[in-house]
Amino acid sequence: MDWHIHKAQTLHCELEVPGDKSISHRAVMLASLAQGSCVIRGFLPGEDCLSTMEAFRALGVKIERLAPTTLVIHGTCGKFHAPAGDLDCGNSGTTMRLLSGLLAAQPFESRLVGDASLSKRPMKRVIEPLARMGAHIEAETLPDRPPLRVHGGSLKAIDYVSPVASAQVKSAILLAGLFAEGTTSVSEPNLSRDHTERMFEYFGIAVKRSGLRASVEGGQRPQPRDFRVPGDISSAAFWIVAAAVRPGWRLRLKQVGLNPSRTGLLGILARMGARVREFEHSNLGEPIGTLEIEGAALKATRIEGKEIPNVIDELPILAVAAALAEGTTIIADAAELRVKETDRLAAIASHLKAMGVNVVEHPDGLEITGRKSLQGATLDSLGDHRIAMAFAIAGLFADSETVITGTECVNTSYPGFYEVLQKVLAHRLGADPLVISQEPEEAVEV
Ligand code: S3P
Repeated sequence: MDWHIHKAQTLHCELEVPGDKSISHRAVMLASLAQGSCVIRGFLPGEDCLSTMEAFRALGVKIERLAPTTLVIHGTCGKFHAPAGDLDCGNSGTTMRLLSGLLAAQPFESRLVGDASLSKRPMKRVIEPLARMGAHIEAETLPDRPPLRVHGGSLKAIDYVSPVASAQVKSAILLAGLFAEGTTSVSEPNLSRDHTERMFEYFGIAVKRSGLRASVEGGQRPQPRDFRVPGDISSAAFWIVAAAVRPGWRLRLKQVGLNPSRTGLLGILARMGARVREFEHSNLGEPIGTLEIEGAALKATRIEGKEIPNVIDELPILAVAAALAEGTTIIADAAELRVKETDRLAAIASHLKAMGVNVVEHPDGLEITGRKSLQGATLDSLGDHRIAMAFAIAGLFADSETVITGTECVNTSYPGFYEVLQKVLAHRLGADPLVISQEPEEAVEV
């Protein structure tokens, strides 16, 4: 399906976004490993997280879906059944990499497959540390691309220094560490999102954290606990940037995750001139709260170094903010973007150029010189959900029509994005603020 987008008149909105993708994956995994049943609320019914849910069902975990966002998961205390066929991870790197860690310790062989995009993504980053733990994982496509054949068995603890700041790598090793003999540690060059560590603690697994190092003692299993997934700040980011780039535009976001390892976008936009306020309301495993954004004429900035892992998924939409800010924004140390769902540095550069923006592409980043408004263009998603959504938002600031093709991929992380976009496009100056909520959940008795 193609999206046709024209210039927006205003944005004045109160919004809730669907559940966090990273946290939804981990909630299914921890509950599946638990010694009892857990109710997960606010689960993201996006294709990536559904791939994780189906993989655990195929491994013998009973998962009841009481509503699109409510799961009851009957944990098996870390004992899974050999799957009858391939485990299909779809488009989801998180599913494939974290599952590799868990399956490395199971006494059977499994085969992990993915779609065309996932089949091109590097897996050495998990194969290598898991091999050091004693696992045997073969990549069927050289040098290290899926499908993966995981021959599980007994594992020994390692102390691993990861060359990349990657929550997927860190999490795969920590999950494997639950089944290893001894204490498994991972250090990373910069802090990546820490949902696995927080969720371990919430489910009663002791994790030692000191700076960039996390350690877990083998043999522990999660206690059964109910859990609420907060709204995904990476989905909210598209609307946050839309509101931030124009003086007088405003957004209030409710029930959104405010984990500091994910909120780097807010600091960057504040530095560029937007007004951003955060109110934390609860912290049951993950901080949840409200955000208020007021737009401004933004100024260019530098985004680099340890800030990069914190905004790794927000760089496409931050590049759109840069394209509308005064001056030249530098994004550096971001070569990881080249191995996401598509080569995001190349995609951002080519799409911004098509919209009339002056962009210089470097091996690890971009220089983007902002302008007051953009030119409409026809842009392909390249099968990448965040490219599709970032450029749909860019279209709200273009003088002529923007068409985004290949938008089905958006369902991997943000089902309902297009409905919000249509409401924003229809919103007129002087009208009442838009109010967009997630479906209320039914009470669940287990
Ligand atoms: C994720 C980690 C990040 C992120 C991805 C989700 C996770 O990937 O880009 O969307 O849930 O652990 P890397 O760990 O490869 O940086």
